[in-house]
Parts: sequence; structure tokens; C-alpha cells
Amino acid sequence: MNSDQPLTFVHRPHPAPVAADERAARLVDPGFGRVFTDHMVTVRWTHDRGWCDAEVRPREPFQLDPASAVLHYAQEIFEGLKAYRTRNGGVYLFRPERNARRFQQSAERLAMPVVPEELFLRAIEELVKADAAWIPGGEGSLYLRPFMFANEAFLGVRPSMEYLFVVIASPVGAYFKGGKKAVSVWLSETYTRAAPGGTGAAKCGGNYAASLLAQAEATRHGCDQVVFLDAAQHRWVEELGGMNVFFVFDDGSMLTPPLGGTILPGVTRDAILTLAREEGRAVREELYSYDQWRADAQSGKLRECFACGTAAVVSPIGEIKSASGDFVIGNGAGGEVTDGLRARLVGIQRGEIPDTQGWVHKVL
Ligand SMILES: Cc1ncc(COP(=O)(O)O)c(C=O)c1O
Repeated sequence: MNSDQPLTFVHRPHPAPVAADERAARLVDPGFGRVFTDHMVTVRWTHDRGWCDAEVRPREPFQLDPASAVLHYAQEIFEGLKAYRTRNGGVYLFRPERNARRFQQSAERLAMPVVPEELFLRAIEELVKADAAWIPGGEGSLYLRPFMFANEAFLGVRPSMEYLFVVIASPVGAYFKGGKKAVSVWLSETYTRAAPGGTGAAKCGGNYAASLLAQAEATRHGCDQVVFLDAAQHRWVEELGGMNVFFVFDDGSMLTPPLGGTILPGVTRDAILTLAREEGRAVREELYSYDQWRADAQSGKLRECFACGTAAVVSPIGEIKSASGDFVIGNGAGGEVTDGLRARLVGIQRGEIPDTQGWVHKVL
């Protein structure tokens, strides 16, 4: 794609979209990632043509050659962001240019072509507009899943010469069953998520494949999420399977693990850093050991702890379980710093609190 000549999106509306009453029924309790809209966006990349064939088209299965590179060497990356319906009927995205940039960084790490920021944003806007009727009101939102995979039919181990960039959309309710309650986490002492020099900072499917066994272990122990320690020393808290983590202390200060290449640079994490500093809090991006976490929880120095990410927004962490013992944070039910940050973030995302940072991106 030549940046002077934006790609033209061909529109092929669904010939038989889901009927309005059936759509309304599916939006009543959509859960997370189970219900999908009528359309998808696809854009192809080939070594010879670059970005081409941009389409808004009916959502349908792909035909994949069994030798498609993604099926063998896992060249795949993705993003996750939400479109929110405001009370007066507008539709907002939250900092989508951050997702565009992270998608570019993930692509570079996986030796894939970079999607220009304007193409990434345009693809999302096209889909949101085509499927605007699927955006739930109230506390729900439309989860957008841009992704890209290698689809050259070739078994040699080298970067593919063909890719498909796709955006699909899924109306969602609360991520954790039961809404905003405090979540419990299982400390994985067996598995790590990412090693220095690896792909921890990239949002690639392989990272999640590698985390599933640990997540299954967490579920077996009755926990909502797994929390990972660093791969080198098995000592420093890194992040959850799908969320970043923050700690709130008795002096009102906060701490979150630093971005060092092994954790995902969350868009929500960055927003929380800004909002907390705006409140006048000291927020450190510093290493924090598991031993310190337990000691601070037991002494009462640690008052609150929360996980944050696009899917779950801000969720208090109430209890930590591990093979070597369990401990509770505060009263196990979250706290007012967590609630306050969550309320401010959600208020900005939904247009109910002034957006002083210019984070909101209006689509409709
Ligand atoms: C491993 C991991 N860490 C952190 C996050 C939070 O990132 P964001 O706030 O951009 O959703 C996510 C979710 O995308 C994730 O999968």
C-alpha cells in the first residue's frame, strides 16, 4: 500500500444478516467471545503487491491450505479493544492508536509485515460502522479482535510471503462471571510465560498457547486467573495470563512491574498509570517479588491489588493461592482506590467523564 493512496474498502453486505429480534436475544447475556456480528474485514498482503483487497464482507469460515504457514510455525498476532455505546447513542473507541502501534511492534517481532496505523484504524472503523447495531448498551461493549496470520502454503521455516489481516467483532458483557467481584489468582511455580529475548511483549497467539496449561492449573485450584513470575529467577511478579497487575500500599502509593520485554505493555496499564499520577499518587514501575507480595499482604502494608486489561477493565484481586500457601489482600474484596480508578476509566471510555487526555476516538 502506498501511503499517498489509502486502500479502497469494497463493501459486500451480508445477504442474510441476523434478524433484529434474534440479535436482541443474543445481546441479552452475551458472555465473552461467544456471540459474533454479521461482518468481518479482511485485507491481504502479498510479497509482490503489499496490502491489497480490503473488504468489509459477511463473516464466514476461511478456506486454508493445509500447508498454510500459520498452522505449522504459528506466525500469528492479534489485538483486543472495545467499542462503547454512549448514553446519547455515540460510539467511542478507547486509544485505538495504541493498539495499532502495539500490533506493529508484535508484527516486527514475529517477522510479519507492518499494518500502517491508518489502515488498522480504518479497518476497525469500517467494521464498527457496518455492525453498529450489535453494540450493546448499558455495561456491555463490542469487543474488537484484529488479527493477522501467515497463509502462504509453504513448509520451509522462514517468514511467510502472504498474510491475511482480519477484524472480527463480538458483543460482550462482563469478563468474569459475576461481574466486578474480587478475583482469585493462582501463582504458577511450574510454568513461566515469557523469557528475556522471547516474545513476551508481543501479542502473539503462541504466548497464549504456552499459558493455557498454567491457566488450567489455576482453574483446577478454583482460581480465576494465573499469575506468572519471571523466567530467569522465578522471583519477580510479572503479570496475569491476560492482564497486567497493580499493587496499592498503605501510604496511597502504587507499584506495577516494569515493561522489560517479558510482559505485555497494556493500554489499560498505561491509562491507569496516568490516572493514578493525576490523582497525585506516587506510582513506581519496579520489580516486586512474590515473597514481598506475601509479606506486605500479611503485614497490612499492601492494602489493595488489582488486575487490569481491556477485557476485564479493572478487577480487584482478593486472594492468591499457590502450592506453598494462600494469602488474602486486605479484606479480600478490593478497595476504594481500585474502585475509584475503575470508575474514572470506565467513565472516560463511555463519555461520561471529560476526556482530558484525548483518549477517546469517536466513530459515530
Ligand atoms: C498477557 C496480557 N497482559 C496484559 C493485557 C492487558 O492489555 P490491554 O490493557 O492493552 O488490554 C492483556 C490483554 O490484552 C494480556 O493478554
